[in-house]
Amino acid sequence: MSASQATWPMITQADFQKISRFAHDHFGLELPAGKEGLVNARLGKKMRQGGFATFADYYSHVHSDRTGQALLGLIDALTTNFTAFLREPAHFDFLRQAAAEFRDARPLRVWSAACSSGEEPYSIAMTLLAAGRDAVEITASDISTRVLKVGQDAVYPAERFRGIPEEWRRAFLLKGTGPKEGSFKIKPRVAGLIKFERRNLMEPLPSRKFHFIFCRNVMIYFNRATQQSIVERFTPCLEPGGYLFVGHSESLNGIQHTLRYIKPSVYKNERIK
Ligand SMILES: C[S@@+](CC[C@H](N)C(=O)[O-])C[C@H]1O[C@@H](n2cnc3c(N)ncnc32)[C@H](O)[C@@H]1O
Repeated sequence: MSASQATWPMITQADFQKISRFAHDHFGLELPAGKEGLVNARLGKKMRQGGFATFADYYSHVHSDRTGQALLGLIDALTTNFTAFLREPAHFDFLRQAAAEFRDARPLRVWSAACSSGEEPYSIAMTLLAAGRDAVEITASDISTRVLKVGQDAVYPAERFRGIPEEWRRAFLLKGTGPKEGSFKIKPRVAGLIKFERRNLMEPLPSRKFHFIFCRNVMIYFNRATQQSIVERFTPCLEPGGYLFVGHSESLNGIQHTLRYIKPSVYKNERIK
């Protein structure tokens, strides 16, 4: 443990249970026993930065802060935002091929429902543009405002693009110069297809329908009942014939649903209406 970590206030078991219940009730996140160290590290740092001596002081600040900033800070601290361009590449191959089933859709609507810092919606946009689709509307949502801001800025260190084909770099990225040396900005023709918005999946979902929904690597943080509720509420958001992608380590096994299993982590809405 480093010297600075050693000075973090330690949360008690009662504090942990309180935060765990709050995370479950408000944003669906499960923080089971065993995650005390993680919560202590992530929230302890926030408490220290904000000058709170005890968890109770910090927790009451989160509840009383009318700007909502403290709650957003808590969400940012507790969510896991790992992502990458073309993560789980088979989904993007599938997207490219299946998009042809909606040849007349103008626009083709895609929702990246836990988009983190934007790599997923930008990968969707680049895949579709490379396939000759430019009438595309991508909704990219996440609960964390910190990651949404990264997505909106559309600037990433060069190493984040390691797996991106050379012709995509030329077509879709602008090389940073001067103070931006070592980074790339996503070109406006790609970024312009995406609308970022804050959305908690525990709250009402969009009323429009999508041809593709990416809900990847977020349901693993939810319990079975929350996963069930999300899948039930996602289904009406799919166009007839539309597809739902979940993460490769996720599945709808054990969840009641009306979607057709296509292949691991890919499901289709075969309902007519
Ligand atoms: C591990 S990232 C996955 C990013 C991307 N989908 C991927 O597969 O690379 C999980 C994201 O889910 C978001 N998240 C967690 N709980 C959420 C909720 N209740 N509503 C919306 N987003 C949530 C987190 O903020 C985080 O950015």
